[in-house]
Amino acid sequence: MCLAVQQLLAALQNQSNSGSFRVINPYYVVTRTMNLPDTDRIYLSPPCMLGNERAMLLDAFDSNWIAPLGPHVNAFEQELAARAGTKHAVALSSGTAAIHLALNLIGVTHGDTVLTSTFTFCATANAITYTGATPVFIDSDLETWNLDPDLVEQALAAGKAAGKLPKAVLAVDIVGQTADYDRLSRVCEKYGVPIVEDSAESLGATYKDRPAGSLASIGCFSFNGNKIITTSGGGMLVTDNEDWATQARFLATQARDPAPHYEHSVIGYNYRMSNLLAAVGRAQLENLDTHVNNRRAIFRRYERALGSLPGIRFMPEPEGFYSTRWLTLLTVDPDLFGASGNEIRLALEAEKIESRPAWKPMHLQPVFANNELWGGKVSEEIFANGLCLPSGTALTEIQQQRVIDTVLACRRA
Ligand SMILES: Cc1ncc(COP(=O)(O)O)c(C=O)c1O
Repeated sequence: MCLAVQQLLAALQNQSNSGSFRVINPYYVVTRTMNLPDTDRIYLSPPCMLGNERAMLLDAFDSNWIAPLGPHVNAFEQELAARAGTKHAVALSSGTAAIHLALNLIGVTHGDTVLTSTFTFCATANAITYTGATPVFIDSDLETWNLDPDLVEQALAAGKAAGKLPKAVLAVDIVGQTADYDRLSRVCEKYGVPIVEDSAESLGATYKDRPAGSLASIGCFSFNGNKIITTSGGGMLVTDNEDWATQARFLATQARDPAPHYEHSVIGYNYRMSNLLAAVGRAQLENLDTHVNNRRAIFRRYERALGSLPGIRFMPEPEGFYSTRWLTLLTVDPDLFGASGNEIRLALEAEKIESRPAWKPMHLQPVFANNELWGGKVSEEIFANGLCLPSGTALTEIQQQRVIDTVLACRRA
């Protein structure tokens, strides 16, 4: 066995024997949460290994399927599809890759436009540009903080009148909660425009009892390090359409035509998930409900402690929506509360507590400053006053109380 592998195995062995907390910047490995001294830095949404992750990773390692294919990749696809309520799933190297391929599958290409949420992470809009299409940004509504279906309808009507309908609507399920897909579907069906669901942040959420990811023709998830379950980096494309799933696997493996040599008729990508990471993902998925329940409990404690204070407003969860509360997101009216979201963030930082402003809308990003925009005020207000509080699955009540006390101290100050 080579020295590097011996060292890796020895490090893993030490970690499991010590039963202690190892801090690995910027995330930590959760082994025994009770051992965490409450003076340690509190992260926004660190990875949390709850069960069989280490065993499954070593199983993949020992099997020598150290490749972007293997039994864990196949099993992870089946298990994730079952959880997402779709017939097929394709394991990929990132959520961004999943969105890029999804747009590719429905034929988005150079010169097209795609309607998408301005209140999102840049990966949503970037994936649109990878296809050669241009993102058109749509504001959020006040009920869900996701795509406003009325603005989508206005943009589609304008596109039709101008003789150029968008090729797709890329709906985003932001911060653990889905968009309003019944309303969006009605609007999009009227204009014959397909919807793709960027559910990178919302695995485990439901909408009218239907799982996030299954609410449009194709769904996309991320297993990035800060997501509700993680493979360190990874993504999944889910769909009921078998041809699309087959084509996604083909494109994700450099579009290799059937031949003994390497033969290629179209441009492909190197987008498949590693079997090692799929093993971690399977173990994480086993405990998805625990992750969701813990994060919802964390949200409720924040809501109880801060919800009745003047100027504090939590991201709403309308009836029929079930959010994972991946992150607890609130807005702070500085005049009513007595401190701004940014002042609270700096006070938390001084206490070694990581918090983060809400997503800066895409239409305010220099790179998309000239793109078409519908509305904009709702997301601007969420960005101006929004704050995401630590929400990791393993956040203890003692840690959370430190966060709450610091927020309350800002108010008194
Ligand atoms: C809304 C949204 N879409 C897409 C992505 C991209 O996922 P990944 O980082 O796995 O590429 C992320 C997160 O990272 C996200 O938050």
